[in-house]
Amino acid sequence: MPKRKFSPLPSICRKYKVATAFDWFNTARPKIIKMLAENEYGFIPPRPAAMTVELLRERHGLVDGTARRREFRLTLANAGRTHSIDVLVYSPEDTGKPLLAAVAALNFQGNAGAAEEDDVLPLDAPHHTQPGRWPIKQLMKAGFLLATAARNDFYFDDNAPESRRNSVFRLFGEIDGNDRHYTALSAWAFGYRTLCDLLLTLPEVDPGKVWFHGHSRLGKTALWAAANDPRAAGVVSNCSGCGGAAISRDKEGETLRKIITRFPFWFVPEFDRYMDNEKAMPWDQHFLVSLCAPRPVLVASASEDLWADPENEFRAAAAAGEVYRLFGIPGIEERTAFPPVNTPVLRRGVGYYVRSGIHDVTPYDWRQVAKFIRLNR
Ligand code: GCU
Repeated sequence: MPKRKFSPLPSICRKYKVATAFDWFNTARPKIIKMLAENEYGFIPPRPAAMTVELLRERHGLVDGTARRREFRLTLANAGRTHSIDVLVYSPEDTGKPLLAAVAALNFQGNAGAAEEDDVLPLDAPHHTQPGRWPIKQLMKAGFLLATAARNDFYFDDNAPESRRNSVFRLFGEIDGNDRHYTALSAWAFGYRTLCDLLLTLPEVDPGKVWFHGHSRLGKTALWAAANDPRAAGVVSNCSGCGGAAISRDKEGETLRKIITRFPFWFVPEFDRYMDNEKAMPWDQHFLVSLCAPRPVLVASASEDLWADPENEFRAAAAAGEVYRLFGIPGIEERTAFPPVNTPVLRRGVGYYVRSGIHDVTPYDWRQVAKFIRLNR
């Protein structure tokens, strides 16, 4: 395959005249957050006045005796309105070992779809619809606690005005159903924050071990959520592609025009001005990745996921290294070549790999997540 030609990326440190981690944290970082909120993702809903946590059901000894399962209903309340979300939590049956991480992850197909058993709420929903994506036994054995909820419970994933009006944004006032400033990605980022709120109520969760994990549109979201929530100890963005970990300049597969045309409700209208005009962006997606620093970030691609553009996902992961190095954390060394398939480049601070296969989350991916977390402990 001929080598691709890439245009230069804006340097974060040069743009903000940053020489130290102090400068970056106190000067550049808040400006980048503001720029991305105003020009790409929108603002994340604030914290509601109250959240009640109800344990609906609990079972022990599931999944060959490895897992304890809890199902919670969270009720968020603000200004006389309420909004409820169900969360499914799996944790290892008492092994005596400390947890490796407590993972907050939104899911695509509802909690029943993510489960391996047939009796997860809601009972009448299709169960276990994405086999392999949530390998509970493997996760339990690796020491993960998993908390998952449906993205659609925070913002139904379509462009209809009522989806916007019925989203979590409604807790904070009347929503104009046509106002694209209320974005799905920011409502889902609120979802990650809400999962984190729940996790921190569980006695077995060490507050320093909460990781955000997301696949695809939820990988974009996990990065944006972690950028805004300092309680995330680290983040995994799996096949997040355009608007996620992939650089927009010289993008193959999905371009800004393609994503904004199909999913205008994911982004604010200000983002439209960069369609077919990516080089005019004063930032690129490595800015988003760098917002995690100094916390570890793992960017994962799949070899057949050309829509996401693995090489451009690698570029963002590598380019974010300039910010990690301000903290004395190596990240991916400069001039590291795009790695071959199934050859992870896991470093302190930043990790990257391309798994062979399609756009998905697989047991192989979870093994890399566990390795990366262990390396960054
Ligand atoms: C579409 C979209 C991507 C997104 C993906 C997903 O393919 O174009 O940007 O990441 O859906 O969420 O699965």
